[in-house]
Amino acid sequence: MPTASPFAGHEPRILELHSDLIRAEFCSYGARLTALYLRNPDGSETNIALGFPQLDDYPAHDSYVGAICGRFANRIAQARFELDGTPIALSANEGPNQLHGGAEGFDRRHWDTLAFDYRSVTFALTSPDGDQGYPGTMKIQVTYRIIDEDRLQCLITATCDRPTVVNLTNHAYWNLSGDFSRSAADHLLQIDADEYLPVDEQLIPLPGRSSVEDTAFDFREEKSISERLDESGGYDHNFCLDGARGQLRPVARLTDPESGRSLSLSTTEAGLQFYLARHFSPALSSREGRPLHPAAGIALEPQTYPDSPNRPDFPSARLEPGEVYEHLIEWKFAPGPEPTL
Ligand code: BGC
Repeated sequence: MPTASPFAGHEPRILELHSDLIRAEFCSYGARLTALYLRNPDGSETNIALGFPQLDDYPAHDSYVGAICGRFANRIAQARFELDGTPIALSANEGPNQLHGGAEGFDRRHWDTLAFDYRSVTFALTSPDGDQGYPGTMKIQVTYRIIDEDRLQCLITATCDRPTVVNLTNHAYWNLSGDFSRSAADHLLQIDADEYLPVDEQLIPLPGRSSVEDTAFDFREEKSISERLDESGGYDHNFCLDGARGQLRPVARLTDPESGRSLSLSTTEAGLQFYLARHFSPALSSREGRPLHPAAGIALEPQTYPDSPNRPDFPSARLEPGEVYEHLIEWKFAPGPEPTL
């Protein structure tokens, strides 16, 4: 007997964009990036974005792989906040807190495909009033677009008919070696941030911000993630990005020292969650069919700061009716150097 589809009649659409250098695959379930193939100097291709072998694996094992997270990416403490004096109760999905918009976040939705050609795809979603506890009916659009040969952009826009909060990002996990059975901890990372947010044991930001100076969180100069990994207690922190929110600016750069492949990340947002995965089970495999390393990938998630609806000292996540929330993310890819003869 055929087993019931986890997609309940909404079979996801798979869409591919390409240029001479990159080939990116997307899935309408979660508006997610499921693969990013980068052309090597010898003409072969390597996939550097973690994806699962089967579509059914996404709802089963999730981890937000490649997905759009929302309505509020990252954590909201105690799954609640106040809006104009009214307490708002959200659905909790990580102990008492909410992570990435709740148990039925945007990563688990069937997005409509509004437009598609080989360079660009637009997904759309309507989130009803009260969705996971959030006020107002929200309309969201996500456009992934290849610019020139080497850049992929993700433009996320949202409007709402009531005052609310919003924080949307993409949750790709990168391993520029292309081998997801290998730890990504040996990658080199650089982040333009003088400050980061220390967190409590539930990964909720503590009061204040800390300077990265003389800490394991100082990535102002490129360094290997493994260098101070033990001292860091594991990287899953928000970095307070330099530069003005609202302006697209390069904020981080990731390099695989072996192949020389690199990506440079730009964002219009104020913060960057840097998460070196440590949770993947080797019982899971990558789409290439290899068992996953627990630290198979690095998530670099530009966003506003975690828990900002409860933190007046953080950049605001508030959205008014008539206003348009806009977040632009750009990844610029470079293949490794030409092989020497
Ligand atoms: C969070 C991690 C979480 C992961 C789930 C990341 O954005 O920072 O704490 O485990 O998402 O995939």
